[in-house]
Amino acid sequence: MAKILLLYSSVYGHSRRISERMQAHLAQQGVAAEVAAITDTGPDPAAFDAIVIGASIRHGKHNPAVMDFIRQHLALLQSRPSAFFSVNLVARKPTRNTRETNPYLRRFMAQSPWQPKLQGVFAGELDYSRYGPLDRRMMRFVMWLNKGPTDPTTKVEFTDWNAVERFATQVAALAGGPGAAAG
Ligand SMILES: Cc1cc2nc3c(=O)[nH]c(=O)nc-3n(C[C@H](O)[C@H](O)[C@H](O)COP(=O)(O)O)c2cc1C
Repeated sequence: MAKILLLYSSVYGHSRRISERMQAHLAQQGVAAEVAAITDTGPDPAAFDAIVIGASIRHGKHNPAVMDFIRQHLALLQSRPSAFFSVNLVARKPTRNTRETNPYLRRFMAQSPWQPKLQGVFAGELDYSRYGPLDRRMMRFVMWLNKGPTDPTTKVEFTDWNAVERFATQVAALAGGPGAAAG
């Protein structure tokens, strides 16, 4: 039975929660998955049949550790089913929430030597109460520029959890799990 590695790069924990939702959805389908932060000291990726990397955007960029990991494990990533997803707030706009239309995912993939078959983008969370004063001020300004919520008490989860679960099902299909039979 396929075992899937769900690696995440997360600052405030939302991308981790998305990976955990995928893990739970895979479990419902009888597919085992392990969730881990993308670090050098994590599980050995070679021990898994499929690898998914999810990373959030902060100040316009994914954590550079993500591209470092990709470069370091390129041959492995290219040799087995794999997928990538980006988490950001621009994706809360319906015109910016696909592989083709999300600027962060597009830019990342334009720079990446790894081109996974499955790529996704999910809107993240906005929770001003959790940010330090500088981040809060900056995010409120960015939201003001983009006509988003600026009230400092705002806590909104823009994530489409059904889309997250659909993505997990596509991962299972890639990895040859139960979803594979359904194509
Ligand atoms: C300091 C900070 C900077 C951010 N910068 C951006 C950004 O430039 N563009 C964007 O679309 N979202 C941005 N976001 C939104 C995050 O991508 C979103 O909150 C996501 O849910 C964070 O996921 P994480 O908790 O896994 O890091 C930013 C969030 C924070 C806290």
